[in-house]
Amino acid sequence: MNILAIESSCDETAASVLIDGRTVLSNVISSQIDVHKQFGGVVPEIASRKHLEAICTVVEQALEEANMSFEDIDLVGATRGPGLIGALLVGLSYGKGLAYSLAKPFVGVNHMQGHICANYISYVDLEPPFVSLVVSGGHTYLIHVKDYIDYEIIGRTRDDAAGEAFDKVARTIGLGYPGGPKIDALAKKGKDNIDFPRVFLEEDSYDFSFSGLKTAVLNYINSQKQKGLDIVVEDVATSFQTAVLDVLVTKSIKLTNELHLDKIVLSGGVAANDGLRERLEREGEVDGISIYYPPKILCTDNAAMIGSAAYYQYEKYGEDDLNIKANPNLGL
Ligand code: KG4
Ligand code: ZN
Repeated sequence: MNILAIESSCDETAASVLIDGRTVLSNVISSQIDVHKQFGGVVPEIASRKHLEAICTVVEQALEEANMSFEDIDLVGATRGPGLIGALLVGLSYGKGLAYSLAKPFVGVNHMQGHICANYISYVDLEPPFVSLVVSGGHTYLIHVKDYIDYEIIGRTRDDAAGEAFDKVARTIGLGYPGGPKIDALAKKGKDNIDFPRVFLEEDSYDFSFSGLKTAVLNYINSQKQKGLDIVVEDVATSFQTAVLDVLVTKSIKLTNELHLDKIVLSGGVAANDGLRERLEREGEVDGISIYYPPKILCTDNAAMIGSAAYYQYEKYGEDDLNIKANPNLGL
């Protein structure tokens, strides 16, 4: 089955052509980061307009790189949520219109399921069940993936998402947007010598909370400034990142052991974090747990992952009605 997939939930306009759920023929991503950078974050209205400008070219390029034409496509998939409503509507409306004009089936895809499916592209033999740690700019989930389209959320953030905490701390120490990759790079050079809080919540909880940590970093910066003391940004980055990873890694391994599983599958933008990958691999090995993560280009937003999710969703549930709506708060 030839799948054309479209992603436009935030600040990347992306299109991809895949064969079934795992073979990617093209993966075109047009990023708006340079436009939003000057505002320190994504401006929703600008994002929608930029998607509109880019969508036709991005889809045509995806087809061209795959050496296909519209007539070769058997299934169209597009992200329907969660994300920015105006941004989602561009890709979703384009996808539905295209499917209608080609008289081909359409599926509206959950962006977070897409992030998990990025791993099926990267590991051809990977199969559920496993534990997935989904860490993006808007969400933090610990999920028991029972089957391709059968998920149970065991833990979620109660306030800030992990990526959001990276971005906010980066802004506080003057690193700009998006902050995750910049903190990741600085954290390799600093020392873990500032005592930031690790919030584990209740003994049996797999939920997360990162807003207290973010405030602690802010307070530390302000108090250093007030006292006229130096701020070593590398040490702030290392200490902050270590505090985030302590919680993410401990809870992921604990859950995997509790469920008697042996795989942790990382996904979402923060899965690109080198520190997180290394820590999970090192600590997972002790308990015989294997760690999976996509290459960085498939960790952050892309349409190949949406195509993979579209395939498994279509296999299980068939096509969606073309009246299907975008849902900015779509849950898993
Ligand atoms: O999944 P994604 O591309 O978009 C959403 O669906 O939210 O994730 C973007 C997030 C941003 O918060 C960004 O700072 C973070 O992923 N990120 C990272 C790294 N690369 C991207 N966070 C930590 N370390 C990284 N290397
Ligand atoms: Zn995403």
